[in-house]
Amino acid sequence: MVMRVGLLCLLSLAVGDVEPYDSRANFSSGGSSRFGDSSSSGGGGGGGIFLGGSSSSSRAGSSHSGGFGSGGGSSQPFSNFNGSLDHHGTCQCSVLLPDTTFPADRLEQLEFTAHTLSEKFQKELSQVHKYIEMISVYAKHLSNLTVRVEIMEKDSISYTELDFELIKLEVKEMEKLIIELKKNFVGSSEIVDQLEVEGTVSYCGTPEVAMSRNGFNITWLLQVPEGSCAHGRVANISRPAVVQLNWRGFPYKSGVWGQDYSPRHPGKGLYWVAPLNSEGRYMEYYRLYNTWDDLLLYTHSRESRVTYGQGAGAVVYNSNMYFNLHNTRNIVKLNLTTNKMDVTYTLPDAAFNNRFSYANIEWQDIDFTVDEKGLWVIYSTEASTGNIVISQLNDSTLEVLRTWQTKQFKLSVSNAFVVCGVLYATRTLNTRMEEIFYYFDTNTSVEGQLSIPMYKMQEKVQSINYHPMEQKLYVYNDGYLLNYDLFFLQKPQ
Ligand SMILES: *[C@@H]1O[C@H](CO)[C@@H](O)[C@H](O)[C@H]1NC(C)=O
Ligand SMILES: *[C@@H]1O[C@H](CO)[C@@H](O)[C@H](O)[C@H]1NC(C)=O
Ligand SMILES: *[C@@H]1O[C@H](CO)[C@@H](O)[C@H](O)[C@H]1NC(C)=O
Ligand SMILES: *[C@@H]1O[C@H](CO)[C@@H](O)[C@H](O)[C@H]1NC(C)=O
Ligand SMILES: *[C@@H]1O[C@H](CO)[C@@H](O)[C@H](O)[C@H]1NC(C)=O
Ligand SMILES: *[C@@H]1O[C@H](CO)[C@@H](O)[C@H](O)[C@H]1NC(C)=O
Ligand SMILES: *[C@@H]1O[C@H](CO)[C@@H](O)[C@H](O)[C@H]1NC(C)=O
Ligand SMILES: *[C@@H]1O[C@H](CO)[C@@H](O)[C@H](O)[C@H]1NC(C)=O
Repeated sequence: MVMRVGLLCLLSLAVGDVEPYDSRANFSSGGSSRFGDSSSSGGGGGGGIFLGGSSSSSRAGSSHSGGFGSGGGSSQPFSNFNGSLDHHGTCQCSVLLPDTTFPADRLEQLEFTAHTLSEKFQKELSQVHKYIEMISVYAKHLSNLTVRVEIMEKDSISYTELDFELIKLEVKEMEKLIIELKKNFVGSSEIVDQLEVEGTVSYCGTPEVAMSRNGFNITWLLQVPEGSCAHGRVANISRPAVVQLNWRGFPYKSGVWGQDYSPRHPGKGLYWVAPLNSEGRYMEYYRLYNTWDDLLLYTHSRESRVTYGQGAGAVVYNSNMYFNLHNTRNIVKLNLTTNKMDVTYTLPDAAFNNRFSYANIEWQDIDFTVDEKGLWVIYSTEASTGNIVISQLNDSTLEVLRTWQTKQFKLSVSNAFVVCGVLYATRTLNTRMEEIFYYFDTNTSVEGQLSIPMYKMQEKVQSINYHPMEQKLYVYNDGYLLNYDLFFLQKPQ
């Protein structure tokens, strides 16, 4: 046996089929010939011992030390060896290894272990391939869902609650699968982790299901309960979903609509649509729908008449409608079940009859709105020099609980609403865009500027109402009913 003496000594195993170890087989160093061969071919002499370090690949040494491999002396003692220098100056030495001294059995065991490990690795690898396949199936599924949600968003007339329920179910199903996948995926779960990162777009008042538009970014938002204010200020607003033309038709360009909000039954509110009469002043007829589907299909509505509301400032809260009584500064509470005005109250000092309405919108001197904290009214007084005044009302008695004066002139805003005790005002940028440009925080009395663009369908936004549970705006836009999703900053200020 010929070996080259070097500085490092390592045992290396070639994986694969190995012929029974033959102690008389040639071994050589340098990795240049035998080792390389054996690892690629798995062929003869595969289980090799590599003792090396010399870069010399010269075969001279082996010929020089000569004569091994002729089968001579397999029983000779280990101490029999010769050393010599080849012409490169490398020390060559021949060692005779009798069978008994070479750990052939251990080598075999190692080979076996290596084989087992290799098999395990192959199995894991095929599992990974399977997971990758599954993930790509889910990814396709997800983008299909995304496309469907987008279609529903764009073409809102054709979707129903059922569609959303179905999508929710499917998304839930996928969540289960992803959790399953993650369980199997101990270690390299980076891809799966990526599947369930942030993303914060909530659809249709179901904040537990959130998908981002790239379709790979789902998360299960549990942090903000419905109707809660555990978030910051309004940060952005979606594009509008056009729900439908109002039930009275195209000429009824002015009006107001929304969904009843009752903190005790936050998800149960009926939908109401109140187009003003065609002169844009009197609110006389309104319709109620028990479900979203009824609203979309204009079916099963209850129609009632009042004499008369003024302007499009009405809101519905706890199954009562609140509005400004025509030609007065009186505000009323109307029981929607009986259509009776249960309470009438004179809003102290409130300007009325188009004294301080909104920019380009008439007769809305007194504008009601609802948020997480209850019922509010937005108006102006002579004392406020036409600047916006906000009052929080007792929703049973209509008494003013507290009032805030702002520095924002009411006639220069196009509309306003309140979210979590913060008043937001819009102004018109052009025929396609409004802008949420101003806020007033009733908690801190801090006011400031914002710049949140708000697309619209038609030129004038006649009314905006906020729904705390859905965190949506209900907007009446020249006869069309729109709604928008609001997006919030993460942390309360
Ligand atoms: C060992 O190598 C020598 C020289 O390279 C060769 O002549 C001999 O046949 C080889 N022996 C075996 C068992 O492969
Ligand atoms: C070692 O070298 C000597 C002299 O060159 C020679 O007589 C002897 O047989 C060699 N031994 C082996 C094991 O090759
Ligand atoms: C989504 O999948 C459904 C069936 O699973 C199929 O009918 C529909 O065409 C797909 N939609 C898209 C946009 O790929
Ligand atoms: C998910 O969305 C967040 C922003 O909401 C983004 O930072 C993150 O990179 C997205 N992750 C993936 C995998 O797209
Ligand atoms: C705000 O929302 C609009 C419409 O969805 C979107 O185009 C825009 O990129 C958003 N802006 C920010 C800062 O997120
Ligand atoms: C409306 O009036 C009916 C009959 O008086 C009453 O039962 C109901 O509680 C009232 N609704 C509200 C919201 O006050
Ligand atoms: C509203 O008025 C009613 C009747 O006076 C009273 O019971 C209730 O506590 C008041 N609510 C608030 C929030 O002040
Ligand atoms: C403002 O809100 C914080 C937290 O919601 C509350 O602790 C604080 O009392 C509020 N301040 C006022 C003036 O209402």
